[in-house]
Amino acid sequence: MPTPSGALLGTEYVVPEEERDRPGELAPREGYAELIGRLSHQSVVKHFDAYADVPWDDPEFRIDPEDPRWELSPDDVLGGTAWYRSQPQGVRARLGLHMMATFMKIGLQFEGVLKRGLLEFALRLPNGSPEFRYAYHEIIEEAQHSLMFQEFVNRTGFDIPGLVWWQRLGARQVVRFGRTFPELFFVFVLGGEDPIDHVQRMALREREQLHPLLRRIMQIHVTEEARHLCFARHYLKEHADRLGPLRRLALSLRAPFILAIMAQLMMRPSPQIVRAYGIPRDVIREAYTRNPVHRARTLDALRKVRQLCAEIGIVSPGAVRLWKLLGIWEPGAQAVTA
Ligand SMILES: [Fe+2]
Ligand SMILES: [Fe+2]
Repeated sequence: MPTPSGALLGTEYVVPEEERDRPGELAPREGYAELIGRLSHQSVVKHFDAYADVPWDDPEFRIDPEDPRWELSPDDVLGGTAWYRSQPQGVRARLGLHMMATFMKIGLQFEGVLKRGLLEFALRLPNGSPEFRYAYHEIIEEAQHSLMFQEFVNRTGFDIPGLVWWQRLGARQVVRFGRTFPELFFVFVLGGEDPIDHVQRMALREREQLHPLLRRIMQIHVTEEARHLCFARHYLKEHADRLGPLRRLALSLRAPFILAIMAQLMMRPSPQIVRAYGIPRDVIREAYTRNPVHRARTLDALRKVRQLCAEIGIVSPGAVRLWKLLGIWEPGAQAVTA
């Protein structure tokens, strides 16, 4: 039965509408290996270079930390607070740029884990596997993204530490999953890529005053991420069915933790920013912790991956309790549908 996020028909897939126009001209129905082949081909005909395809030194692309285009919009959960609006214009712009640079730093550290995990994943693939070629295309693309993100961070002038020690420790574990538990690894991949993709697509669609440098970086990123998301989803659809009961249970219990952590990393200011700008605790509560709008946006960003988890049968009624406990369950959502 076709579902909103695509359907498994034996070894044949109905490619969902939104994925059809994203990674290129994917046929409405195709086998798993064929789909991987097409994604690999797209990587050859439609790819970007961090330096050749971004005019870093164009005066229009220059970063001025006090440029009003870096300011958070009144629609933003922090940007809409009275505290933020009462800051001087220069501070509002700096804080917005600082947050953007932090997301890029975390993004490139996430991509570092992703690349290392994909190398581990590729290590165990047999000769002739179409996934090997695809995985290497994705590693190359992620390396270009990381060059682009780090160049942006450098040009902002902010010294951003990125992940803290316990997150780096967790990241090392995730790298190993690329080889030992690829299904869990690809849930992690979607947990990082889906929310970033969602936020970037929204910004490209809705923010008229986007700095041209940011617009260019986001355009390149969403174009290539479409392939990565498509691969991760279809890998899970193809392989999750073959898991034994213990692994399936482990996947269903670990997925919500991974997704809850990843979504927050990508959608909240880092502790460094909170300290640097002296954001009062009650402002953080107002904007994030107790804000139904922030909660709704987080659920929105996670919706696709949650639907996929249900589709591949890892959202059992028991697991739903965990999702709820972690605050990432959407009222009215369905448990296992597969
Ligand atoms: Fe990326
Ligand atoms: Fe990616």
